[in-house]
Amino acid sequence: MTHHQQQAAPQHWPWWPLLPLYPYGRRSTLVRELIAGQVWVFEQLQGVYYVAVPIRMTVVRLRDGLLLYAPVAPTAAVREALALLEQQHGPVRTIVLPTASGLEHKVPVPAMARAFPKAEVWVTPCQWSFPLPLPLAWLGFPARRTRVLFEQGLPHADELDWCALGPLNLGLGTFMEVACLHRASGCLLVTDALVAIGTQPPAVFEADPTPLLFHARERGDQPLLDSPEQRRKGWQRLALFASYLRPKSLQVPPLPEVMAQAWAPGLRNPRSHFGVYPFRWPAGWQEEFDQLVGPGEQALQIAPVLERLVFPRSRASLVSWIRELAQLAPLSWLIPAHYEAPIPCTNETLEQLAASLEARPWAPGDGSWQTLAAIDQTLLNLRVVPEQP
Ligand SMILES: [Fe+2]
Repeated sequence: MTHHQQQAAPQHWPWWPLLPLYPYGRRSTLVRELIAGQVWVFEQLQGVYYVAVPIRMTVVRLRDGLLLYAPVAPTAAVREALALLEQQHGPVRTIVLPTASGLEHKVPVPAMARAFPKAEVWVTPCQWSFPLPLPLAWLGFPARRTRVLFEQGLPHADELDWCALGPLNLGLGTFMEVACLHRASGCLLVTDALVAIGTQPPAVFEADPTPLLFHARERGDQPLLDSPEQRRKGWQRLALFASYLRPKSLQVPPLPEVMAQAWAPGLRNPRSHFGVYPFRWPAGWQEEFDQLVGPGEQALQIAPVLERLVFPRSRASLVSWIRELAQLAPLSWLIPAHYEAPIPCTNETLEQLAASLEARPWAPGDGSWQTLAAIDQTLLNLRVVPEQP
């Protein structure tokens, strides 16, 4: 495919150099209707070095148009699908950036705002950008129609409830996330704080299962083979990577061995990373995954990276936010910006989650958690993160 053709492709996303995550300039989008005529999700893949996890925008139909929560990259395919929804349900009125720190959700917002020049843009307070703290206007946010949640009001308060976690001082910046309940559907939208990890690969991988097949291998000189079993295996390992950065059951073979295996025929292409596969998964990784997902299907959890690196000393704030969410009007579903959605979720589900988080050890440092704990300890020693956020 020539560069010119790529420009014209419906999944093209020209702003990827701002945050260079797999799959770079090409993003296909899966659109699913979760609640008939009321709630839709737009899902893409995002990640580094083939650790791709789903990222999701939720579209909610309000009385006078549509609201976009946590925008994804507005490729031509995304804009076309939104145009169809606009024809049926009215214009996009409101675009919401529901996190202060999640760069992957922030980068697409200016382009989405340009695609809908009449929409209001609402952002979470305490925005920061890494590595430089730049004003929002410099980042391409439209100053005249951008407002700050809570500080300048709340959009559609007659139909939606808004509930903030934070601000929490992370040293590097501020963590804040704003949940949104759509009362008519009972859908509670959250961004990063709560997730459920499924045992099967999310449907968004069907357009390109390469990241799954990449991780389903045992050695670098094996070809990428496709089967439902390979996809499931690859997904589970990928979820371990994304959750623990370096899972306990992962071994990294010596470099000469990795390079020797990279010369096998058929691997000299970018799809198989030129045969470089520096991972080994001895017995035990499956048990580690089963522990990660927890009991039952779609068990709600705090993503380990967040628990260990964002909330290690903020359990009380997190638990009281979950209790606040549990007090909202009747809930039916939770829709996070990553992993599974929708997740069945009642007010009792959240009460039980809050109680279980208080009862179990918090931000442990053993087993699967060793790498995350070591990063946190290094940041503490360097005084980059505060003892008491
Ligand atoms: Fe996120």
